[in-house]
Amino acid sequence: MMTISVIVGSTRQGRFSEKPAQWILQQLHKREGIEGLLLDLRDFPMPFFDQPMPPAMPGRPPYEHEVVKKWTAQIAASDGFVFVTPEYNYGTSAVLKNAIDWVYPEWNRKAAAFVSYGSAMGTRAVQQLRETAIETNGTDSVICSRSRGDAMGTFSGWGCGKGPRRVGKAS
Ligand SMILES: Cc1cc2nc3c(=O)[nH]c(=O)nc-3n(C[C@H](O)[C@H](O)[C@H](O)COP(=O)(O)O)c2cc1C
Repeated sequence: MMTISVIVGSTRQGRFSEKPAQWILQQLHKREGIEGLLLDLRDFPMPFFDQPMPPAMPGRPPYEHEVVKKWTAQIAASDGFVFVTPEYNYGTSAVLKNAIDWVYPEWNRKAAAFVSYGSAMGTRAVQQLRETAIETNGTDSVICSRSRGDAMGTFSGWGCGKGPRRVGKAS
């Protein structure tokens, strides 16, 4: 059984992020051999990264924050990820970037896909996340962007057509 985690990339009041995230989760539940999990960053209220040792440092002791341990364990238990990201000022949300930055080896060698939205479909946020994924994942990425306007009309619009559009290696 493969575990794919859908990460809700906004914690804002009235956020849109949970709508596509829930839809994606429903699609994952229809697939045999896949366990779909929802990782809502509201459930992981991590501080801004402030540690003296970076997550990537080999042999570093575990971070002491319980919420960071809980988050890291979920990333470790996942085989792949769907990042559902808003676009804030041409980038992803600070809360999502911070959640990525707390973890390192647990992201490595796992698949990552990105779903974005926004008035320009969130493409700049995905562009930024793909560059981050070069460092954290080192694997192929698939990308699907849909505008919020499309999605509000019908969620059948959230599906990358017949399948995800592979746009190339992330590394
Ligand atoms: C601080 C901020 C910055 C934003 N910057 C952009 C932007 O650069 N490009 C864009 O297309 N939309 C931008 N938006 C619009 C958001 O993409 C839109 O509000 C989206 O619904 C936010 O996702 P959320 O509702 O899941 O938090 C911005 C919104 C906020 C709050």
